[in-house]
Amino acid sequence: MTKNPSVLKWLEDMKALVTPDQVVWIDGSEEQLEALRKEACSTGEMIKLNEEKLPGCYLHRTAVNDVARVEGRTFICARKEEDAGPTNHWMEPQSAYKMLYDIARGSYKGRTMYVIPYSMGPIGSPFAKIGVELTDSIYVVLNMAIMTRVGNKVWEVLGDSEDWVRGLHCKCDIDEEKRYICHFPEDNTIISVNSGYGGNVLLGKKCFALRIASFLGKNEGWMAEHMLILGIENPKGEIKYVTAAFPSACGKTNLAMLIPPEGYRKNGYKVWTVGDDIAWMRIGPDGRLWAINPENGFFGVAPGTNEKSNPNALHTTKAGTIFTNVAHNLDDNTVWWEGLDKNPPENAVDWKGNPWNGKTSDVKGAHPNSRFTAPAKNCPCISPKFDDGAGVPISAIIFGGRRAQTTPLVYQSRDWNNGVFVGSIMASETTAAATGAVGVVRRDPMAMLPFCGYHMGDYFKHWIEMGEKLGDKAPKIFNVNWFRLDEDGNFIWPGFGDNLRVLEWIIDRCEGKVGAEETAIGYVPKAEDINLEGLDFSIDTLKSILAVNKDQWATEAEGIEEFYTKFGGKLPAELRKELDTLKANLK
Ligand code: GTP
Ligand code: MN
Ligand code: MN
Repeated sequence: MTKNPSVLKWLEDMKALVTPDQVVWIDGSEEQLEALRKEACSTGEMIKLNEEKLPGCYLHRTAVNDVARVEGRTFICARKEEDAGPTNHWMEPQSAYKMLYDIARGSYKGRTMYVIPYSMGPIGSPFAKIGVELTDSIYVVLNMAIMTRVGNKVWEVLGDSEDWVRGLHCKCDIDEEKRYICHFPEDNTIISVNSGYGGNVLLGKKCFALRIASFLGKNEGWMAEHMLILGIENPKGEIKYVTAAFPSACGKTNLAMLIPPEGYRKNGYKVWTVGDDIAWMRIGPDGRLWAINPENGFFGVAPGTNEKSNPNALHTTKAGTIFTNVAHNLDDNTVWWEGLDKNPPENAVDWKGNPWNGKTSDVKGAHPNSRFTAPAKNCPCISPKFDDGAGVPISAIIFGGRRAQTTPLVYQSRDWNNGVFVGSIMASETTAAATGAVGVVRRDPMAMLPFCGYHMGDYFKHWIEMGEKLGDKAPKIFNVNWFRLDEDGNFIWPGFGDNLRVLEWIIDRCEGKVGAEETAIGYVPKAEDINLEGLDFSIDTLKSILAVNKDQWATEAEGIEEFYTKFGGKLPAELRKELDTLKANLK
């Protein structure tokens, strides 16, 4: 398959360590994948779903103690603790390797080692990076074949290069006490043991495309971000691209697949999805910032996805999809999850594998973090640029989180460094929508808190330096908040498709077509500049969610001050200065 000496050497070392009965090279062919699906169904690892209703779709259940990412057991194993920084768990690399090898030793006995060559990004694109994952799980192979570009083509592109990411996954006994997701950024290596859940074991995604890649990006002068990428086409057929970073469960997949409001659709507006979770961005030959989505599929949260909330996502899951931890409807051999429709199946099996009657049971049929792994090419609004190795040019970068109060619907930063400040102070609240109680604020800079593979202070510095390189070609930076609550705890802004109204203002600002009001925090729209046509929403209500309340922001500034102390001497002076300016503006 490959004669690459660095690959073969590592493979020999790993085989000697985990001692598989046999080794299978994943070549990317449909025949091989189909044989693996059949094998997984014969052992019960997967269940084949109704071929007429859900062609090529399968159901898998993970162990009940293994259903989500485990931040507490995720480590950055840099040589120096300081390089992992205050926001990551750290382990010294030599002792980490020893501990992990002790766990992995002999763990493939009686099992097959699958060797998966994969490319993050279109194969051969200047943005793309190659990884090899070893796993003893067919479920991992089949998910990787949806989420990344897998197969022999990858070896061809890799040649004899040593520039690839090593990934070892051992399912072991799914023992929570021995579960570790460890990253060795200085060695381009990831080791994941005792889990079979996607976010922990599909090593191309969070582990490589964010944690390892963010470190590579800092050293090589590019950026790996927890961002969706979307294109907005106006009636003249011009397409502008934006990226947006929101923390988990704050609406990236929804915004990426947005369906324009009716009036906009009639006028010819379209939205094109390039990515829903990760963006790799670098400066192009023209000096602008260009982005690709390194993934090839969507690993989305199933509950709440329905014909109204996100029809494009739902449609994407109708073929060639692997469902994990959703309910199994035995009547027609399909799947169901909370929020899919108002008609739960009576004759079903829940995510734990127990008999389940959705009409009478008081437990959930699907796990709240149940997921679909669906091919990007199924998405009705997938961008024609999705496979373009050159990526798309980015006009605006949007940050956002869940804030019941304080943060206006949208505002624009004054300049790049002020925009980096806006990203660095991002926060999301745990809201009890029913009572309207204000929840706890968790700071999640650039939505990268769980995903930055190095010191967050150095990461901020990298952002500042990218701005210096981009100069006046830098994207404009904005912040949005779809989640303002009224006194009864209801969302004020309708959100979803209507967020296009806000995106339109953002694009117009980038093109200098619309004015704004300068406030203590940056530029806020004049209410009349947000198009409310066709929407039952008063301009006074709009004004209320655009307002910047100085008392609330003064409290916010105190919170930022406290958060910033974490970074000590690594906090860039530029950000310190932005905080001082904010405080002065609030006086
Ligand atoms: P990860 O895939 O985990 O990184 O998260 P994500 O950012 O893709 O989150 P996702 O789109 O799955 O989050 C959806 C949640 O946000 C659901 O609870 C949606 O109902 C809610 N949501 C998304 N967009 C909006 C919006 O415009 N307004 C409101 N009120 N809720 C929204
Ligand atoms: Mn998502
Ligand atoms: Mn994510």
